Amino acid sequence: MKQTIYDFLKRKGLSPVSMLTAYDYHTARTIDEAGVDMILVGDSLGNVMLGYENTLAVTVEDMIHHGKAVCRGAKEAFVVIDMPFLSYQVCVEDAVRNAGRIVKETGCQAVKLEGGAEYADRIHAIVRAGIPVVGHIGLTPQSVNTLGGYKVQGKSLDEARKLLDDAKAIEEAGAFAITLECIPEALAQLITARSAVLTIGIGAGRYCDGQVLVYQDMLGYSDARTAKFVKQYADLHGVMLNAFKQYKTECEQRTFPGEEHAYAISEDVIKALKD
Ligand code: KIV
Repeated sequence: MKQTIYDFLKRKGLSPVSMLTAYDYHTARTIDEAGVDMILVGDSLGNVMLGYENTLAVTVEDMIHHGKAVCRGAKEAFVVIDMPFLSYQVCVEDAVRNAGRIVKETGCQAVKLEGGAEYADRIHAIVRAGIPVVGHIGLTPQSVNTLGGYKVQGKSLDEARKLLDDAKAIEEAGAFAITLECIPEALAQLITARSAVLTIGIGAGRYCDGQVLVYQDMLGYSDARTAKFVKQYADLHGVMLNAFKQYKTECEQRTFPGEEHAYAISEDVIKALKD
């Protein structure tokens, strides 16, 4: 049985929630099998799956395509899908229509969108349409060009106050959770203490109600340098690179395939073919 937003809300302050990103069926199945509570089909798929420099080119169609695969793999985990750039920024109608499409066509349980008080009307309208929403403040990658890069947010008094106000506005608009990305730990702790909804941190320290990481980062799937907040649980890049190299060598040396990988046929048939 899938947990609901109410199961998660009951855990606030008691038992932290785990979330990982996934973008395909097999990864979703594995994360689900591990018992991770939530899967995020992040628009980070632009970077980690599609090779874009940032998330801005990701479309609603991309999110639906990958979201469908993830939902097929996630039997227990609660699936949240990101609303990509320009799918909700222009107007409330776009926001509801696109959130509706994402839920209807994938079967996910919630959507996530970036931004604070300025998008409270979108959050309110989507929730009113019956779709649970996760907010996202702090480092919001869809605004990378106005933020001037991927850096820690909320360090000054004004910025920190704005993030507290944004969290309140998102909560009042009806979101059940807020992602806090790349903000100081003590600020995330304050936001968490002052909100009745769940805070899910990524680079926001130890005191959030839950944590999320991009799975490629935590598995060491890429050879790129990862942010300070990422804990690397495996060296998947190393494992894959060694396997691919060994395969190439074995193809070249004819040590793969071996007899055990080949299909047999009766010698009589072969003989008849040759006669
Ligand atoms: O797109 C994504 O993966 C995200 C996480 C960084 C929270 O939004």
